Amino acid sequence: MSNNTLTITDNRTGKQYEVPIENNAIKAIDLRQIKASEDDVGLMTYDPAFMNTASCKSRISFIDGDKGILEYRGYPIDQLAEQSSYLEVAYLLLYGELPTESQLKDWTYNITYHTFINESIKKVMDGFHYDAHPMGMFISTLGALSTFYPDAKKIHDAECRQKQIYRLIAKVPTLGAFAYRHRIGMQYAYPDNDLSYESNFLNMMFKTTELKYEANPVLERALSVLFILHADHEQNCSASAMRGIGSAETDPFNALAGAAAALYGPLHGGANEMVLRMLKEIGSKDNVPGYIKRVKAGEFRLMGFGHRVYKNYDPRARIIKKVADEVFEVTGKDPLLDIAVELERIALEDEYFVKRKLYPNVDFYSGIIYQAMRFPVDMFPVLFAIPRTSGWLAQWVEMLEDKEQKIARPRQIYLGHRTRDYVPMEKRKFSDVAGAKA
Ligand code: ACO
Repeated sequence: MSNNTLTITDNRTGKQYEVPIENNAIKAIDLRQIKASEDDVGLMTYDPAFMNTASCKSRISFIDGDKGILEYRGYPIDQLAEQSSYLEVAYLLLYGELPTESQLKDWTYNITYHTFINESIKKVMDGFHYDAHPMGMFISTLGALSTFYPDAKKIHDAECRQKQIYRLIAKVPTLGAFAYRHRIGMQYAYPDNDLSYESNFLNMMFKTTELKYEANPVLERALSVLFILHADHEQNCSASAMRGIGSAETDPFNALAGAAAALYGPLHGGANEMVLRMLKEIGSKDNVPGYIKRVKAGEFRLMGFGHRVYKNYDPRARIIKKVADEVFEVTGKDPLLDIAVELERIALEDEYFVKRKLYPNVDFYSGIIYQAMRFPVDMFPVLFAIPRTSGWLAQWVEMLEDKEQKIARPRQIYLGHRTRDYVPMEKRKFSDVAGAKA
């Protein structure tokens, strides 16, 4: 008998079962055989928020939350941030290996030549209110793009899938920048295919009357590093949304719109926007202790702190702090940085945060850098979604090629009423449920 098994005794029946352990996990479906009676459907696992359930086997990102390690395809995040470019990392995430020189040239060419969007998308943009949140516009126009590419439905055709990957990685900066320009009432700036991925994005965001936009190389590089750090993060809420929607064989434009919607939440990719709003609310270093006191009293959470997986310093936050110094050399220091540093200092010494292993996450400093680079606060979630597109697509392709995957369909533990007869209106009594009014 192999040692790689788990023996389970069901005390309801006295029966014993042996289930295999593979990769330090048991298959939940192996528990189905455990039944208390003949008509029992079998034992399930209950795991709200998937705290301890692996939903897939993956070879893309590795995280050791206790040690603060993040690797893409085995390459440590700090090495990639130091030596690579965003498009190279996007290639690595999607295809598993760093590209050769000619592969990178082809990849860059293909991304560069898909940056334009159909002119009709501008009309969709124009339909939004002047103060519409750019993330709402970004999500909607991503979904709208699917209507221009009906071929994207051929998700099992690898060549066709490849084309959608070029299109999506190329077009997300255009959508994001156009949403911003609409928001501030400026004419759209078209992509410039002579520029790098990052420079072109800055061009579409900030170009005014100059004939040719030239990005500051320090800011261009900082954007590349931030994009690398945000490119993937294994099975987080938005990646799980991408896989979940994709498992229904939805086209990648709509699946990505769903993933971006998940990212928009303040507990996920919306956190960097919330960090900036929080720092502005705190207003000065002197107010930090009072703010921390309110956090500890449970009034609200310290945004940019804590992580489901990292119970140590988020390795991305460490790299971002370095980038911040380089950016501030060019832009001048943002006074919010002092508040952030003080907040971090006090929190890291405080018993409440120490006991709960709450450390700054990737979003704690990224917002301050983005603000110094002139990005408005409501663009922050969009700035997260643009590089995460490559990670979402890598997760999506892996899911489609995994023979063990099917349409996502969790089970439930049903605790509600069972069969009862319909009650006519005149016989109904007022019931004190949420939302009911006397
Ligand atoms: N501020 C204060 N207390 C916190 C914070 C925080 N930011 N985060 C967690 N806690 C406390 C909780 O109140 C809880 O305390 P308790 O045990 O006394 O009840 C304990 O720490 C554990 O918290 P959970 O909610 O169980 O932790 P979980 O793993 O579910 O949450 C999350 C992770 C959502 C990231 C959380 O830390 C949080 O809300 N952080 C602020 C939002 C944020 O920065 N999100 C960005 C995450 S990174 C990303 O998505 C890119």
